[in-house]
Amino acid sequence: MSVWPEIRKSVLERIKPTRAEEITLKEVGGQVVDKINAILKKSGIQGVAEIHGSVPHGTWVTGQMDLDIFVVLDTYRERGQLNEVLDALREHTDWEFTEAWAEHPYLQTEIGGYNLDIVPCFRARIGDRIRSATDRSPLHTVWLKGRLNGLGDDVRLLKQFLKVTGIYGAEIKIGGFSGYLCELLIIKHGSFMELMESASNWGDKEVLRFKDETREFNDPLVVYDPVDSLRNVASALREEPYRRFISAARAFKESPIERFFTFDETPVDTDELLERIGESSLVFVIIEENKAEVPDTLWGQLRRSVGAIEKQLALKGFDVIRSTVWSNEETRHVLAYMLGSINRTETDKHFGPPVGMEKDVERFLGIYTDNPRVVSGPEIEDGRWFVVLYRHHTHVTDTMDELLSDGGARIGVSRRTAVRILQHHRVIVGEGIGPYLNGGFERHLAEFIRGRPFWVE
Ligand code: CTP
Repeated sequence: MSVWPEIRKSVLERIKPTRAEEITLKEVGGQVVDKINAILKKSGIQGVAEIHGSVPHGTWVTGQMDLDIFVVLDTYRERGQLNEVLDALREHTDWEFTEAWAEHPYLQTEIGGYNLDIVPCFRARIGDRIRSATDRSPLHTVWLKGRLNGLGDDVRLLKQFLKVTGIYGAEIKIGGFSGYLCELLIIKHGSFMELMESASNWGDKEVLRFKDETREFNDPLVVYDPVDSLRNVASALREEPYRRFISAARAFKESPIERFFTFDETPVDTDELLERIGESSLVFVIIEENKAEVPDTLWGQLRRSVGAIEKQLALKGFDVIRSTVWSNEETRHVLAYMLGSINRTETDKHFGPPVGMEKDVERFLGIYTDNPRVVSGPEIEDGRWFVVLYRHHTHVTDTMDELLSDGGARIGVSRRTAVRILQHHRVIVGEGIGPYLNGGFERHLAEFIRGRPFWVE
C-alpha cells in the first residue's frame, strides 16, 4: 500500500493546474478586467474591476473554467448602483449574458471557453457595515494574502476530496463546503492531513475561530469569517454533508487511498440497474419543461417539493424509506421515492370528534354507522370516536395523481414547480423508468439505490 506522501504527490500531479493553464487563465482574466475598467470610465462609474476567488488565491483545481470578476464600486449611495454597472456592461459589450438574480444581481458570460461571473459590489473595509452580500470577497483576498503561503496545494486536495465525496459547493443543490471555507479550514489546521485528523473527532457541533468571537450560530459547523464576525462562513453547510465529511475523514485517516480523490467513471450498467429497480419499490415524478430558472432557485424549489410530497405520502399511509431529487437544471427534473411497498395498507384509522362535542358526534355517527366502507367501529378511544375505513386508493400512482391534481400547490409543492407539474409531468413506477435512465440520472439513481458511500466497505 502506498503511503500518504506518495499519494499526495500523485493526486497533485492530476489536479494541480499547469503553468500554461495558469498563464492563459490570468491572461483572459486580465483582458476582461481591462475592458470592464474602460467601460466604467466611459460610463462615469467610480469603481474598478478585480479578480477574486480561487484564481488569485492560488487554490483552484485544474480544468476549472470559471473566473470571478468583481466590479468594486468606490462609494455606496444606493443598491441601484449595482444594476447601473450591469446596464453599462450590456450596453458597451457584445458579450452574451445570462442574468443570474438568485440573491444578488450579476451577469454570466462565456469568453474563450471560460465562464465568467461578473459581480458588482461595494468597497468595504474590515469592520464596515456590509452593503451587499458579495462585498466581502475583496476583503477575503486581502485577508488570505500571506496566510495561504505554501498551503494552496492542501486546499486543492481538500476541494478534490470534497468533490469526490459529493459535498463541495455552497449552492443549494449541494449544501456543502464553499471554496473560501476550504481555504479557512486549511489555514486553521495547517495541512490537509491535520484537518482530516481533527475532523475525525468533530462532534454534533464544531466552532472554529480566528479571533475572539461570540455570536451564536445554529449551524453544525461554525467558522467565523475573519473579515466579518457576524457571518458564519459554513452557514450553507447542511447537517447531512457535515456528517458525511466527518465519516469520510475518519475513513481516510484509517486508509488514505487515492480513491478519495478519484471520481468513479465506470459507466452505469442500466440492465443491472433496472434489475435493482425491480427489486425495490420506487415511484418517480418526471417533470419536463423548456428552460429552468437559475440553479439555486430551482434546487430550492425542487428540494421543498420533494419533501412536501414525501410528507403527504407518509400521511396517506405509505412507508417512505428515502427520497431524492435529480435535475439536469434545464429541461428535466425527477423526484424519486423509495417506498416500503407500492401498495399501502388497506385500512386506515380515522378519528372523529371528542365524545363531548354532541353535534359533531351526531354527524360522525350518522355518517359512519352502517357505512359499507367501515371495517370496524365507530368506537371510542382516548375520549374520541373513531372508525377503521377501507381506503379509496391503494396504489401509489392513484395517490400521487390525487396529490398532484392541482400540481401539488395545496400540499406545499413550490408554486413554480406546481405550475410545471400541471403543464407536463408523468408518474412512473419501478422499471417503467427505463427510458429516462440517461443524461446523468442513471448514475444518480444507481448511487441512490446503492445507498452506501464508497468508503464504507
Ligand atoms: N464566497 C463566499 N461565500 C460563499 C461563496 C463564495 O464568501 N458561499 C466568496 C468568497 O470570497 C470567494 C468568492 O466568493 O473567494 C468566490 O467563490 P466561488 O466562486 O464560489 O469559489 P472559489 O472560492 O473561487 O473556489 P473554486 O473556484 O475553486 O470552486
